[in-house]
Amino acid sequence: MQVTEANSEVYVPPVKKSLPVVGDSWALFKHPHQYLLKQEKTYGRVFFSNVFFMNSLFMLEPDAVQFMLRNKDDIFAAAPVYNKLLGKLRSLTSMDFAPHRLHRRLLKPVFNRAALIGYVDQMNASMHVDAGGWEAEPNPSFYTLAEDVSRNIGASVFMGLEDHPDKDKVTQAMMALSDSASSIIRYPLPGNRWNKALKSHGYLQFFFQNLLNQYRHQGSQDRKDMLSVMLQSFEESGEAFTDTEIIDHIKLIVGAAHDTSVSATTTMMYFMIRYPEWQERLREQMLALDQASPDYAALDKLDLTRYVFQEALRILPPIQSIHRTAVKSFKFRGQIYPEGTELCTVPQFLHHLPEFWTEPYQFDPMRFAPGREEHKQHSCLWFPFSAGAHTCIGLQIAEMFSKLLMFHLLTRYRFKAVPGHDLSGYKKEFYGFGRFKNRLPVVIEKL
Ligand code: HEM
Repeated sequence: MQVTEANSEVYVPPVKKSLPVVGDSWALFKHPHQYLLKQEKTYGRVFFSNVFFMNSLFMLEPDAVQFMLRNKDDIFAAAPVYNKLLGKLRSLTSMDFAPHRLHRRLLKPVFNRAALIGYVDQMNASMHVDAGGWEAEPNPSFYTLAEDVSRNIGASVFMGLEDHPDKDKVTQAMMALSDSASSIIRYPLPGNRWNKALKSHGYLQFFFQNLLNQYRHQGSQDRKDMLSVMLQSFEESGEAFTDTEIIDHIKLIVGAAHDTSVSATTTMMYFMIRYPEWQERLREQMLALDQASPDYAALDKLDLTRYVFQEALRILPPIQSIHRTAVKSFKFRGQIYPEGTELCTVPQFLHHLPEFWTEPYQFDPMRFAPGREEHKQHSCLWFPFSAGAHTCIGLQIAEMFSKLLMFHLLTRYRFKAVPGHDLSGYKKEFYGFGRFKNRLPVVIEKL
């Protein structure tokens, strides 16, 4: 139902007592799950709370999330919050409704089956898990390793820069842009993250403009990297797009892929060392493939790794909160809310709802297997990749990357916890891309 601003019934949200300006942000950032459980006891699963410096309508049950994210009447926009959050990283997240649908359509060839098959081959070639001497360190950080591998994949598979002399400089500039997403001070000061992001943005704009000119001049038809596939798709569409739009897309994709994939694989490894029997099960299935570098079809056979990936994302989803802003007033469960209402949902909370999940706090990958498939009870019950128009465009790549990294590691090494190291303290930042606060040191043994 659509409602106009003039409607006299416009709902005025109740003002919940909290600290001025910061509201409940601190409580939420410190112990997100406990905070939400406490709110739920008093207010239910749909309530207003002042966090993230604004009063947001929290939607914490599947039907409410579906209403917010499926967004069938184009009421809720993603751009207002993402523009604030991601600074100079602007592309799909800064678009909504018809222009967003058009760009998603143009990007389809970049994520279709043929393209994915090409990326798997390139990922295998770029996954140098035994390079860099990390295995010689006493207790190497898994997080650091995953970051190195992911940066390399970003440079080679996404941007096609494997042999380019500026590969490292471009990668560093990309990382500076992503870093700014978790920056508290959003103003350029000498040496701060925001300042570095602004400088990187200028450099990347210049670099990619030259690269696109070069690809056009030389022809990019034989290239299989993501940027080249994107260039071909946009040129073949016959629509008039600026190079800036293509550059913005590749910058967001590299940024959106990196921290999230590193976070997902680190969580997987965390569970692999906590539950060594699962590590053995995955290894056994991987070795049974009898391939040094699994191709696209072979990856599909690694169902146990997929269940571990799904379970890791259920328990600790890399993106902790998803936001929308109402661009018109709307009616939900008999209440009318004004234009400008901020909405927020927290996948991790729904991923633990006791009436849907068996023993929600237990690590149990088989809950995703045929016969149980607990996640299929509702389309917005398990949604680490969001839902609706802004659903993660790279979700298949995320799964491919995670399976490949696990494959190349588990078929070479056995991973164990560092003796005496407390594994219970693994927490993520609630904001930005949910980076790990602890870099997961591990003990490795060559097989
Ligand atoms: C485990 C890894 C990943 C997780 C958990 C994840 C999660 C998400 C989520 C939750 C959103 C939507 C936010 C919203 O609805 O507001 C999103 C959007 C997006 N993701 Fe991912 N992502 C992952 C990996 C990737 C990868 C590998 C890529 C690219 C290769 C990627 C590219 C994007 C892009 C471009 C968007 C914006 C889509 C749009 O606004 O239409 N992500 N991701």
